[in-house]
Amino acid sequence: MEETITSPNFAHSSLFRTSCYYLGHWKSYEKTISVIDPATGETIGTVPNLPREEIRKAIDYAFLEQSKWSKTTGKERGKYLRAWSELMLRNKDDLAKIMTWEQGKPLAESIGEIEYAASYLEWFSEEAKRSYGDIIPTHRNDVRLLSWREPIGVSGFLTPWNFPSSMITRKAGAALAAGCVAISKPSEITPYSALALAVLAQEAGIPPGVFQVVTGFPEHIADEFLENPKMKKISFTGSVRVGKLLLEKAAPKMKRLSLELGGNAPFIVFSDANIQDAVKGAVLSKFRNTGQTCVCANRFLVHEKVISEFSQLLVKEVSKLKVGNGFDEGIQQGPLINEVGFKKVKNHVENAASLGGKILTGGKPHSLGGTFFEPTVILGVPTTALCFQEETFGPVAPICSFRTEEEAIHIANNTNVGLASYIYGRDHALIWRVSESIESGMVSVNEGILSTEQVPFGGVKDSGMGREGSKYGMEEYQELKYICWGGQKKI
Ligand code: SIN
Repeated sequence: MEETITSPNFAHSSLFRTSCYYLGHWKSYEKTISVIDPATGETIGTVPNLPREEIRKAIDYAFLEQSKWSKTTGKERGKYLRAWSELMLRNKDDLAKIMTWEQGKPLAESIGEIEYAASYLEWFSEEAKRSYGDIIPTHRNDVRLLSWREPIGVSGFLTPWNFPSSMITRKAGAALAAGCVAISKPSEITPYSALALAVLAQEAGIPPGVFQVVTGFPEHIADEFLENPKMKKISFTGSVRVGKLLLEKAAPKMKRLSLELGGNAPFIVFSDANIQDAVKGAVLSKFRNTGQTCVCANRFLVHEKVISEFSQLLVKEVSKLKVGNGFDEGIQQGPLINEVGFKKVKNHVENAASLGGKILTGGKPHSLGGTFFEPTVILGVPTTALCFQEETFGPVAPICSFRTEEEAIHIANNTNVGLASYIYGRDHALIWRVSESIESGMVSVNEGILSTEQVPFGGVKDSGMGREGSKYGMEEYQELKYICWGGQKKI
């Protein structure tokens, strides 16, 4: 194995911060949380474990800023967002190193995520100018009717560890463009990417109360976000379990929520599919970020006529994947984020095997130790297996066969969630029918990666509510106001 870098060299070392950015300053706190490098198990450093009172102060500070920020024009806000996005791109190597260090994904993937994250700021820098209202045809001759959009107010983000930058900018771009100020609470597992974003927001000239980053354990921060009347909106990306808990707690306060929750994506390969393309897409979709994405293929449904060809080719490609520390040259799969994630993956594999699944490659902890797991393909997995019932969030591709279109749709929809789905085939009529029948917010046809800033990202069923990115993203941070203007001249 190549030599492993345990402490990256940064060109711009001030991007790596161990304090929080709130109340206009970088502030440390006596109580801290340790952050672990998942590839080595070593401690990278600590971040403040802020108590609820500090979060309350940050909300007060944001609330004061809200009235000023909401009075800026879309064009002005767009300039700040563009500057922030450009700074991200200029510093992408350092930002990627921070990400690989705390999250474990291969460096090339981290660079990809930084570009993806910056693209949301760029997109919303443009959208900021394009928030339109309506002049509504009137119901009476002496009345004029119109509507416009107003910023909802102070917004709180609760973001996950699997995409430590882009899940923040996807929210921050939309919120700031809409005229809302924001407080971001990153996962305590990957806080450094978020803190680096705050450094660049500051460098971009964004006023300190407009984007603050606080760290700590999620429960009490979420509770303050939920219960504080000055916090008007919460956007969460994470598990279905926590999403439901937030929804329940938000109800008495009528707090606006956006929830981007888990998935259990079916990857359907029809008999007329180009199998090489399907395998390429399968590897991209399944093994990106070590299988730790909400949109990654979780269940492979392959037509019985092509299942043998598909699985053989998939095994050939998967067994070539290079596993190791994300800093090492050519690595394509890093470690799982922690012991909890590792145990879940192991359990899913053992369960599938115990139910008759045949492990074609991988299937066990990687010889590198720690939380590294072998890229795995399992054939003949019954749909009752755990890996078909819930998100595995790991590098495991379980395959089952189907005979008819109806059967494929039935298996695909037989889950409580519906974020992404993948379909491979050539028959356009069939693709159209399946795209319509499938219960998911997003459908990818003959493509393994569907994410981009231009599209509405989000799910149906238990996968949540609301959409991020696209021309709709800003609406999550806006209220629609209607004005009825009487006493007008009769037409
Ligand atoms: C996620 O896994 O939640 C996000 C993935 C993406 O944006 O592509």
